[in-house]
Amino acid sequence: MKALVLAGGTGTRLRPFSHTMPKQLIPVANKPVLVHILEDIRAQGISEVGIVVGGHAADMAETLGDGSALGLRITYLHQDAPRGLAHCVVVARDFLGDADFVMYLGDNMLPQGIAPVVDDFRAGGAPAQLAVQSVADPRAFGVAELGEGRRVRRVVEKPVRPVSDLALIGVYVFSPQVHDAVAAITPSARGELEITDAVQWLITQGHEVRASCYEGYWRDMGTVDDVLECNRELLRSLTTSVQGRVDGASLLVGPVEIGEGSSVTNSRITGPVSIGRGVVIKDSCVGPDTTVGDHCTLSGAGVSYSIVLEAASISDVEDLHGSVIGRAAQIASAGVSGRHHRLMVGDHASVHMLTSR
Ligand code: TTP
Repeated sequence: MKALVLAGGTGTRLRPFSHTMPKQLIPVANKPVLVHILEDIRAQGISEVGIVVGGHAADMAETLGDGSALGLRITYLHQDAPRGLAHCVVVARDFLGDADFVMYLGDNMLPQGIAPVVDDFRAGGAPAQLAVQSVADPRAFGVAELGEGRRVRRVVEKPVRPVSDLALIGVYVFSPQVHDAVAAITPSARGELEITDAVQWLITQGHEVRASCYEGYWRDMGTVDDVLECNRELLRSLTTSVQGRVDGASLLVGPVEIGEGSSVTNSRITGPVSIGRGVVIKDSCVGPDTTVGDHCTLSGAGVSYSIVLEAASISDVEDLHGSVIGRAAQIASAGVSGRHHRLMVGDHASVHMLTSR
């Protein structure tokens, strides 16, 4: 069995971060989303992975290389434009050959792993196995209608009036029959080759398509709120590990991870908090539910339920909450005598400031 990870796309909803880094490389619990996914794939005994990449191919290759550090062999497959999930299967045709494969959306997190879905595929013998989960509002998803024995009767992309509340959650296992399906369908009204159309084609042709009702945590990293929520979820399983230096005037409460070469001085860290390597924290309050990337500097900072990316600095700003601070970004106080906020904010950024009124 091989794996196909979809990491092209535009990531419009994750601007401004997706301007400069692919959303699939955004760190959650201090590890890029794609690394979480690739570790999950490896845990299924799969070592051949194709990654569909778009405009950020060089960043992907720089971070993941040939995959050997993760025990994988990675082949990068270039998609010229985001032409749909089923188009990714077309792009990967030669790579996939006649192998069964897991198709994993590169912005979906299932921290408990996809073993139940892969096991169902291996045991069931159907040419397509879809991971589904009950959601409150299925209208934003591909939706599956199930018949007896979790056999899928129908799939519909983003239905106005959903036939069920079971959303397709970004993990599919296919046999090579899916190649006939993606070759047979045409682009949808939004101009994409839809994987739901390919699956529906299989059903209409009389092939058995089955669903696995996934019970574990699942989140699609579509928006900044999704990333923060998923970060919080992953930090729940953090255990304390302190490799850096913590002085006697500092207090660590709850699970806290501090990487090599980091120092914490006169600060309170309220876990769960993950702090990377080479980080300097002084006179600050950090946490809970926060990750701080490598080489950040926090001085006189207060930050909770947030993600601070690599090499960012925060000084004398005490009330950051629900924030994602980009790489090498600088957040500083204008001082007590400053009369104005001073902002240098890039395209599509979002800033929410407290008013004194
Ligand atoms: P989406 O989240 O559906 O699309 P997107 O990444 O373009 O995001 P947005 O809606 O915010 O603009 O994509 C799901 C995953 O599949 C994601 O990892 C990107 C990937 N993908 C491709 O690789 N090729 C494609 O043609 C599409 C549509 C998505």
